Order: sequence, then C-alpha cells, then structure tokens
Amino acid sequence: MAVEKGRRDFIGMAFAGFAAAGGAVSLVAMKKSWDPLPSVQSAGFITVDLSPMKDGDMQTIQWRGKPIFILKKGSDIKKNEKRDVVVGSSAFTVVIGLCTHLGCIPTWLPAKQEFLCACHGGLFDASGINTFGPPPRPMDIPPFKIDGEKLVLGEEGEEYKKLTAKKA
Ligand code: FES
Repeated sequence: MAVEKGRRDFIGMAFAGFAAAGGAVSLVAMKKSWDPLPSVQSAGFITVDLSPMKDGDMQTIQWRGKPIFILKKGSDIKKNEKRDVVVGSSAFTVVIGLCTHLGCIPTWLPAKQEFLCACHGGLFDASGINTFGPPPRPMDIPPFKIDGEKLVLGEEGEEYKKLTAKKA
C-alpha cells in the first residue's frame, strides 16, 4: 500500500510540475504577443534620455521609420537659438536625418562640424541648415516635447511650438 501511495504522490507531483512549467511557458508566450513589435514602437512616441550624452556626441535613432539625428552641442559648436532644443543648460540639434533634396541620409562629420549628403554633395551645418549644394532648405525638426532630461518624439510640446513660431 505504501508503495502505491508513493507512486501516486510521485505522479501527482510530476503532473503538477508539468502543469507549472506549461503555465510559465504560456505566460511568456502571451507576454511576447502583447508586447508591441519594434516596428510599432518606432511608429508612435518614443522617449530618449539625453542625460548620458556628452558634448559633441551625435546619435541616430529611429522614429516612425525615419532617422533622427540628436547632436549635443559643445562650446565649440555654434548655437542657433531658432533651432536649438535647449534642455537645462545644454543645446541640442534634433532633426529628421533626411536630406531635403531627394531624401538621402547625410553623414555627420565631427571634424568639420557639418552633415554631408554624399548623394549630390549637399552640406548642412551643425544646426541642420543647408549651406551648400542642392538641398533647398534645412533638415526638418520633428515634433517633440521635453520631459526633464528626456526628449519625447512625436508630441508637440511647448518647446517645439516656440521653435516653430520662431521660424515663421
Ligand atoms: S539627396 Fe542630398 S544632395 Fe541630393
């Protein structure tokens, strides 16, 4: 009898173990299906923490399928009050990284402090303003909001509205 009870206990525990493992696997699968795909994440709002950036750092992130250039201007890079995104005491260039000629992606040249579009030789300064070649206008500034030291792309905050009002 004792052998029979031990066997039943073993089968019961094994079944419970399988059920728990199956449940855990199901939860992981469900969570994966709930999480938005990276392509969906880049379609709406995204938040970028600017605090780790050092003077002169340039990073490119994806937002709504477009490259966004974020350049932290050091003291050696000319400021532009009509285009700079000011966070605390720091100024940033935040632009959609597409050439306004035919849409190529320019390259940041830190030594020259300009963006070069290799497609037709267009140049933009560190604020994204066209300075040479066929690009007809500066690179566009995406809608953004400042939240502490974070940049929220995709939302028109007060800072964005002020910049666009200065352009007009
Ligand atoms: S696409 Fe950039 S210069 Fe033509």
